[in-house]
Parts: sequence; C-alpha cells; structure tokens
Amino acid sequence: MADAIEAKELTKKFGNLTAVNKISFKIREGEIFGLLGPNGAGKTTTLSMFATLVHPTSGEAYVGGHSIIHEQGAVRKSIGFVFQDPSSDDTLSGRENLYLHALLYGVNLTDINSKIDSVLSLVDLKDKQRVLVKNYSGGMRRRLELARGLLHEPKILFLDEPTLGLDPQTREHMWEYIKELSSKKGVTIIVTTHYMEEAEQLCDRIAIIDHGEIKVLDTPANLRRNVGGDIVTLRFSGKPNVAKLKKLKFIRKTEIKGSTVRLTVYNSAVHLQDILKAAGKVEAVESRSPTMNDVFLHYTGKEIRESGDEAEGGAMERIMHYRANSHR
Ligand SMILES: Nc1ncnc2c1ncn2[C@@H]1O[C@H](COP(=O)(O)OP(=O)(O)O)[C@@H](O)[C@H]1O
Ligand SMILES: [Mg+2]
Repeated sequence: MADAIEAKELTKKFGNLTAVNKISFKIREGEIFGLLGPNGAGKTTTLSMFATLVHPTSGEAYVGGHSIIHEQGAVRKSIGFVFQDPSSDDTLSGRENLYLHALLYGVNLTDINSKIDSVLSLVDLKDKQRVLVKNYSGGMRRRLELARGLLHEPKILFLDEPTLGLDPQTREHMWEYIKELSSKKGVTIIVTTHYMEEAEQLCDRIAIIDHGEIKVLDTPANLRRNVGGDIVTLRFSGKPNVAKLKKLKFIRKTEIKGSTVRLTVYNSAVHLQDILKAAGKVEAVESRSPTMNDVFLHYTGKEIRESGDEAEGGAMERIMHYRANSHR
C-alpha cells in the first residue's frame, strides 16, 4: 500500500526551543495514526508542518506524495484539518458555517448543497443544522468541525485533540464517527491526543512523542507487549525492603515510590506466591496486564499529565506569540 505521509528528520525550532526534533516515520493510506504525548510535546507543531501552516526548520515531509516545502498548494488540496481550538463561527448556524467553508475551499457551486447534506448526516447533525453554533454543545461543535474538515473530500485528515474536554460518552461517539470515516471512506487519519484511552481505542498505530521526539511507534497491542510483563503493585506499611525481591529473576523492573513498590513481572500469575514470600508483610497487592499508562511510563519514564493547562500550545497561545513578535 502507498504511504499517505512520510516524515524525514522533520524538525522545528522556535528560537532555542526544539519543538519537534528530527522525527521520521511513514503513515500508510487508510490508517488511523495517533501521536500520543503530553501538552507541549510537539503534536500540534508536527501536524501544522504537515499541513504547511508552519515551515520546518530542517528535514522534509511528503503528504499525499507532495513535498510540504515545495508543493504546498497540492498538499493543502489533499488534506482536511480539525483544529485543537474551536474555530466555527458562533453567530452562524451549523449549515451556514459549512457553506462558508465550502466557499473558501472553492467547492463546486452545483455540488455545494449535496456535499453539505452528506457531511451533516455523517456526523448526525442534520436535525440541528439550522441552530446557531453558539447554542451547540461541546460535542456538537466538534462534530461540526469534523464535518467541515471533510467537506472538500480530503484523502488525509488531521485531527488535533478531537475530543479535548468532551465527556467520556461524547468522546466515544466521536471515535465511532472517526472510525467510520476510515472504514467507509478510506480516509487516512492522523490524530493527536494526550488521552491514553483515545490512542488505544482509535488508532491502528501509535507514536509516543515527548519533548519533540518519537520515543516508540507500534500497534497498541505490541506496545503493551513490549512493556515486558504484568504490573504487580505491592503496598507496604512502612518503607519497603526490596533486597529479596531484586534477587528474583522473573522480575524485570523494580520501582519504589514511597511505601509502594511497582514490579514488572513476566507471567505474574505463576510467580505471585514467590513474590509475596520475598516481599514479606504487605498491606495490599494488585496484579494486572499493562495499560497504555504503563506503556507511556515505560517509554518516557513519567506519567502523562491528564489535566490542567489544556489550552497550552493551542491557537490562543500562538496568537499571543504572534502578537508579541509581530511589532518589532
Ligand atoms: N509559535 C510558537 N512560538 C514559540 N513556541 C511555540 C510556538 N508553537 C509552539 N511552541 C512551543 O513548542 C512546544 C510544542 O508545542 P505544541 O506543538 O503546541 O505541543 P502539543 O501540541 O503537543 O501540546 C511547546 O513548548 C510550545 O510552547
Ligand atoms: Mg497541541
């Protein structure tokens, strides 16, 4: 199968901050590809370079076979983009927003109404098409933006944190729409997220990005397998003594955090008795298969930050940078 995207040592520096550092990978046609990383990891910058909105400092990428440096027009024609921050016009209805976007993109006037109808039904917004966007819920807005990104029938769609701030149920609905786009229309989808579950549920392959670097790239199943075993957590009443535990060969990794010890254990079900014996008196024990959280910890050495500064790295931040730098 052909590649929808190829990045070659793609790099972006803002002053002396390296936001994206020599990333290289290929994304196959029709794939749902996830860039998973915390705020500030370089996800939006990466998408913006693919979409020709940000010029790389060095390196190259091909999107739909076109160079993002030398063939920007051709790249833009083959892509759709759903931004991290809301970008619909509140004072227009859902349908009017789509109409405006169709005009901007030069969608053929004879097709305009049928195309708008088709994307509206794809995201289940036909009933609400005449309602002003300011009266939409967060989930409806995201769906409208998804519809807008699809209006000119792009082969490649970029979704920057498509479910940011949505409640879990609405988030799952969004995933269904996105999966349908991939399975029914064959659209290649590149999605950024800092939600573990989203990456795992949605993506065929995931690249974990941290400080502008790709730490690992694989299918969700392989990533979990690569952690190298199950996660056994032991809670002690006082300071843990792990001397005996460390001698057990089937324990791959031992991490101590306060009164808790976290072990990575090959085939934990078989070894649990031995572990408890070596541990001595424990208050609680838990054994489970690795989750995406464990995967993230394994490859980056830290937990992903799930809450807090959600707007960081978004359009508002960019506008502030722009304001600060544009009057010199
Ligand atoms: N226009 C800009 N000017 C200066 N720094 C920027 C700009 N855009 C992003 N950055 C910085 O680059 C890093 C990566 O940002 P971003 O790609 O938005 O991360 P993410 O989308 O993963 O949260 C951050 O440290 C951010 O502050
Ligand atoms: Mg971002």
